Amino acid sequence: MALVDLEMDGKVALLTINRPDKLNALDGELLATLGQKIASLRTGAAEDHVRAAVLTGAGRAFVAGADIAAMADMTPPQARCFSELGHEVLASIELAQFPVIAAVNGFALGGGLELALACDFIYAADTAKLGQPEVSLAVIPGFGGTQRLTRRVGIARARELIYTGRIILAAEAARIGLANEVVPAADLLPRVRAVAAEIAAVGPLAVGAAKRVMHHGQNTSLADACALEVQAFAALFGSDDQRAGMRAFLAKQKTEFKGS
Ligand code: COA
Repeated sequence: MALVDLEMDGKVALLTINRPDKLNALDGELLATLGQKIASLRTGAAEDHVRAAVLTGAGRAFVAGADIAAMADMTPPQARCFSELGHEVLASIELAQFPVIAAVNGFALGGGLELALACDFIYAADTAKLGQPEVSLAVIPGFGGTQRLTRRVGIARARELIYTGRIILAAEAARIGLANEVVPAADLLPRVRAVAAEIAAVGPLAVGAAKRVMHHGQNTSLADACALEVQAFAALFGSDDQRAGMRAFLAKQKTEFKGS
């Protein structure tokens, strides 16, 4: 059985991390496999282009963290390589031209929450538990948690979660803006797939441009970020989809977007 299952539903990809006996803990092999799957989705033939992806976990966890057994005896150089691998894979999700939605079906701890934070947004099952418990192992988050959690929920809440290692319930995650929505566990995947299908139906170049501008704009001044927006907005004009979409609106018709 593959460590990461990939299933296509039209133009929506469903990626399932599949190491349930270890609560989907991320070791080097699993991270590399996930990286390969993401790369294959990012570089597929044009007609197969994915428009949205859903990332979830098999069994009772989303991902219960980086693999503690794999890390226990690491030297600093080995830990650096492992951290860099995690960063590389998570950045490939963040920079993908299509949105990736984390469907957090259970534990999202440590590297698991960091993985969910590299996705565009999080939907959580009502039974999910989320946190950055690394300090209880005398380390800190190593796959971007100190930075992405801060950007998602603000520095004071991120500090409290990271300094205490506290694990919170899905409802609390939604309250602080970490999860967009809490869904009864049985409804999580259908709900997230429906959201992904909504995204897949609109202009894919536009969604990709919005993702890029919002991501890069977060880390720059408002003026520079707005300049990025102007550039991306203008660049969409003249695409087949822009012309067809606006003409269809004016003719009171519907159009199917092609991604060109
Ligand atoms: N790394 C490696 N193995 C892990 C793991 C991790 N992060 N999280 C869970 N596992 C393994 C357990 O060792 C166990 O393996 P075993 O059956 O071979 O002993 C299996 O997954 C099931 O976990 P278990 O602890 O028995 O389940 P539980 O329901 O009692 O507890 C958790 C669930 C999530 C509370 C607990 O597994 C846990 O605290 N995990 C580590 C969380 C963490 O600190 N993550 C950050 C890492 S930096």
